[in-house]
Amino acid sequence: MYKRFFKLKENPFNVSPDPRYLFLTEQIQETLSGLIYGIQTRKGIMTLVGEVGTGKTTLVNRLLDWPNQPATKTAFLFNSRINSTQFFDFVLAEFEIHCESSSKSQQLMKLNQWLVERFRAGETAVLIIDEAQNLTFPVLEEIRLLTNLETSTQKLLQIILSGQPEFEEKLNLPQLRQLRQRIMIRCKTSPLTKEETHAYILERLKIAGAVANGQPIFSPAATEAVHLYSLGIPRVVNLLCEHALINAYVEQQRPIEPKIIEDIAREFKLDVAEPIATPESLHTSAELYNSEAFIQNLGEALSRFRVSPYSPSARQRK
Ligand SMILES: Nc1ncnc2c1ncn2[C@@H]1O[C@H](COP(=O)(O)OP(=O)(O)OP(=O)(O)O)[C@@H](O)[C@H]1O
Ligand SMILES: [Mg+2]
Repeated sequence: MYKRFFKLKENPFNVSPDPRYLFLTEQIQETLSGLIYGIQTRKGIMTLVGEVGTGKTTLVNRLLDWPNQPATKTAFLFNSRINSTQFFDFVLAEFEIHCESSSKSQQLMKLNQWLVERFRAGETAVLIIDEAQNLTFPVLEEIRLLTNLETSTQKLLQIILSGQPEFEEKLNLPQLRQLRQRIMIRCKTSPLTKEETHAYILERLKIAGAVANGQPIFSPAATEAVHLYSLGIPRVVNLLCEHALINAYVEQQRPIEPKIIEDIAREFKLDVAEPIATPESLHTSAELYNSEAFIQNLGEALSRFRVSPYSPSARQRK
């Protein structure tokens, strides 16, 4: 509804990760180059960690586009709330590897065979796992074991684990030290600086069809207010700007003044809530141990020690 008023062709602040709207800061370019380097040189496990809404999914989507060449096979796991069996089923399905058996050892053999064939053909296989903070310990252990699929010099499968700061915290737990040691490249996404937030808004408006040298849509003070309340987190910048366009249209206001941004920030409680997790809040072990993921992990771990009445060790004891 506001498009005609602001002379825009489309909605500039849609929250879906549209690659046409990708905004590359120096840091994002560095992160992209780091991950691409890791894939090309077959480093094995790489991590991408960043605060909520700072562009991790957007970035890995870009990475999916980048290796869009016959030499790369990519599997993208975006639902990380899965168990080990589902994990293997998923990896095989995504790489289009046919395996009649549902036994894990058979599936692993098939995967290994397929990876060796890809390697011989000069191709690289990449597994991208988003929302890695939700992965359970057993699945993380399977991921670690996947790095054992290697030639004498190089890893056959490149794995990118992308997650929120909680994932970094999880990796620091002693039971994950073997996985931690295998991480060869660590990348991050960060909030935008004040200048970058300004450029981000202008860039999105331009892509949406805003006239370059027309009257500005956001006043400089309004842009500054967007940065202040969003702390440079792109998802929050989008939310503030989208609502600002609607409210400014209703009030027929151009350029948009900071009052509009302040009202929206208050409505969405951005003036009181902390959009970034503090290090202390991540350290609360009580929260971690009571979490659904931890209980699920514990359940899975305990089930490994349950002795079946038919297992050889149980029979011997009788
Ligand atoms: N570099 C960027 N260029 C353009 N838009 C971006 C960029 N980074 C983030 N955005 C915008 O912000 C939104 C949120 O980003 P994204 O979903 O990638 O964050 P995230 O880090 O994956 O968040 P979460 O931790 O909640 O999964 C995106 O849908 C996109 O609209
Ligand atoms: Mg995401």
